[in-house]
Amino acid sequence: MSNTTLRGRDFITWLEFSRDELDAILDTGHDLKRKFIRREPHKILDGQTLHMMFYNTSLRTRNSFETAMTQLGGHAHFLQPGAVYTPALKGDEKAYSTERISDVARVLAEMGDAIAIRIYGKYTDWKYGKGNQIIREFAHWSKVPVINMEDDMYHPCQDLADVMTMQEKLGHNLQGRKFVMSWAYSGSVEKPLAVPQSCIIAAATMGMDVTLAHPKGFDLDPKVLQASKDLAKRHGGAFKIVNDMDQAFKGADVVYPKAWTVQPTDGKMPMDPEKAKALFEANKSWITTQDKMKLTNDAIYMHCLPADRDMEVTDEVIDGPNSVIIEQAANRLHGQKGMMVCIMG
Ligand code: CP
Repeated sequence: MSNTTLRGRDFITWLEFSRDELDAILDTGHDLKRKFIRREPHKILDGQTLHMMFYNTSLRTRNSFETAMTQLGGHAHFLQPGAVYTPALKGDEKAYSTERISDVARVLAEMGDAIAIRIYGKYTDWKYGKGNQIIREFAHWSKVPVINMEDDMYHPCQDLADVMTMQEKLGHNLQGRKFVMSWAYSGSVEKPLAVPQSCIIAAATMGMDVTLAHPKGFDLDPKVLQASKDLAKRHGGAFKIVNDMDQAFKGADVVYPKAWTVQPTDGKMPMDPEKAKALFEANKSWITTQDKMKLTNDAIYMHCLPADRDMEVTDEVIDGPNSVIIEQAANRLHGQKGMMVCIMG
């Protein structure tokens, strides 16, 4: 079950792993899921501890990691600002903390076997890239693996569940299947970029025919776009961007529509709230309806959740026969077990 090239590695973005390594993690996740269904014990991380630091709220991520560690024979320890000495953020240690990241990371690494962190949004002053930078600072100081539970750039654990779900629904080999990551309307403009950016990286890594759809003004990080193009080419897939939701949905095997915020040019997020709101409100038609689903190749409907019903998607679609949102959420457990067994086992 263990993999010597993966043991001890941080899991911060899929971009730092080869296709073979990601396949090993995903296959381990599928294998552990079969064991879970058969109720076969698999206490591979017996006695190990995962320290989880949540700066943001969570239903799926927190509970899937806690459950995963229990089923693997270990323990997940929940930490949040206010309940521990908050590590320094924003470069202003007096404002937020009584301890430096270097001290927090080294202390937790002496006691446990991995450190997992979720951080974006107000805790990073909405400065794009700051959350990822903080997680990398933890990784620099920690002698045990550091896991990204979602920052402002990537959500690599969500990708494990997403790809596992697509493999279950469409077959193990996803090469050439049409994957649509689409922007969708929401009443809130404070929507991270992590899921759409991670999703296009993951789908391109699997050699899918990736279409990114969004209204003008909602461009993703150019570095992520370039990486996705390169990955699609390397793995026999394709990558394109369109500004029309209907055009994107035509012939799709998978649609994954969700809101993300406007990428501001000055690096500060979100952009001017009034301008962002106006851009969102001008694109209320970007909602997934049954009529839009009819344009697809009987596509599965995916969402990382929580979803903004009646804004991003109608109840008819999200609760309909093509929706796989619950399987997707459930696979957070199995994908993360696969990943932790590979890097901690
Ligand atoms: N998809 C996801 O990360 O859900 P939570 O925010 O509930 O963890």
